[in-house]
Amino acid sequence: GCQMNERDSEVVKGLLLVEGYQWTDEPDEADVVLFNTCSVRAHAEDRVWSHLGKLKKIRPGEKKKVVGVIGCMAQNYKEEIFKRAPFVDIVCGPNSIGNLALYLKEALRRQKKVMATGEEKRKDEIYHTGFYEDKKHAYVVISEGCDNFCSYCVVPYVRGRLRHRDAQDILAEVKKAVACGIENITFLGQNVNSYKSSIDFVGLLASVSEVPGLKVLSFITSHPKDISEGLFRLMAERPVIKRYLHLPVQSGSDRILALMNRGYTAKRYREIVDQYRSIVYNGKLSTDIIVGFPGETDDDFKKTYELAKDVRFDSAYLFKYSPRPNTKSALMDDDVKKEVKIKRHAQLLDLQKRIAKEGR
Ligand code: 5AD
Ligand code: SF4
Repeated sequence: GCQMNERDSEVVKGLLLVEGYQWTDEPDEADVVLFNTCSVRAHAEDRVWSHLGKLKKIRPGEKKKVVGVIGCMAQNYKEEIFKRAPFVDIVCGPNSIGNLALYLKEALRRQKKVMATGEEKRKDEIYHTGFYEDKKHAYVVISEGCDNFCSYCVVPYVRGRLRHRDAQDILAEVKKAVACGIENITFLGQNVNSYKSSIDFVGLLASVSEVPGLKVLSFITSHPKDISEGLFRLMAERPVIKRYLHLPVQSGSDRILALMNRGYTAKRYREIVDQYRSIVYNGKLSTDIIVGFPGETDDDFKKTYELAKDVRFDSAYLFKYSPRPNTKSALMDDDVKKEVKIKRHAQLLDLQKRIAKEGR
């Protein structure tokens, strides 16, 4: 899954350690096995179903483990998980992970199945354990959920509507982390630029960048429709803010961008990149691209290829379109043949390899 998914795993681990649970890297030894799952593409889900399939085979004399499926797939499939994998005890969506200790108690003591897939806002306290796997770097969540409704994306349906964490709480988490030796912080949100509480995203970044002892501050993910020149100015001005921007373009064709509901054109995207590079000297840039969105023609793909060739991303994460339940694009015909998706994906991969070798 994404970094948000990784951070959620950490949050759960922190909360359970506080409750007295111990961690083992050996699933065979565990009394409780939790899968923190991702629904972004069918491939991610297939892997979980296959892991669950393997767990089904309990050897003679072996004690039954408590098995939990948490995260985006839990929210996406709800009861269906109990049907397809009857030995699963807990299904817990991303918004309910703060109560996992409680659900585990219910499952362990009362041998009862628990399903928690509400849409409630997480309590800020779930971040207060200050548990991070890395001793030098921490992901800090600034907002949860997403309201953009890109037509291909499952996130608004599994993580729910956009909620912003309180700026003071974010600042307190950062200060505490830095006091514990963390030097490097990455803000996390599906669209960090739309952050809004008592202050906006640029304000939040400015205030956190002043925390004494913090060496590197970065943020993912940015959305072209909400990005501002003010952000670039701040990045240029404050040495602690990493000169790195992850700015998914998804496609270089305006027709496809409109079908994706992205809210910008390829021309606008190129302007943002020019502005970024002119203000943030030596700034690095990465992107996400989806190939094979419904109706993507050779000509549409060519526009994406040209954009990548002109922009020369430092790195690009390339994905083949995968229809997701509930999304708008799932109602469109997934008409780009698998071989065509593979070919377009390979072409972009080749291009990126060449760019990486040549440098910018
Ligand atoms: N199919 C393929 N790729 C997707 N992404 C999101 N949803 C889909 C989908 N249905 C990609 C986007 C996003 C990244 C995290 O995953 O490029 O930016
Ligand atoms: Fe992250 Fe999206 Fe996967 Fe959920 S579905 S774990 S939000 S990438």
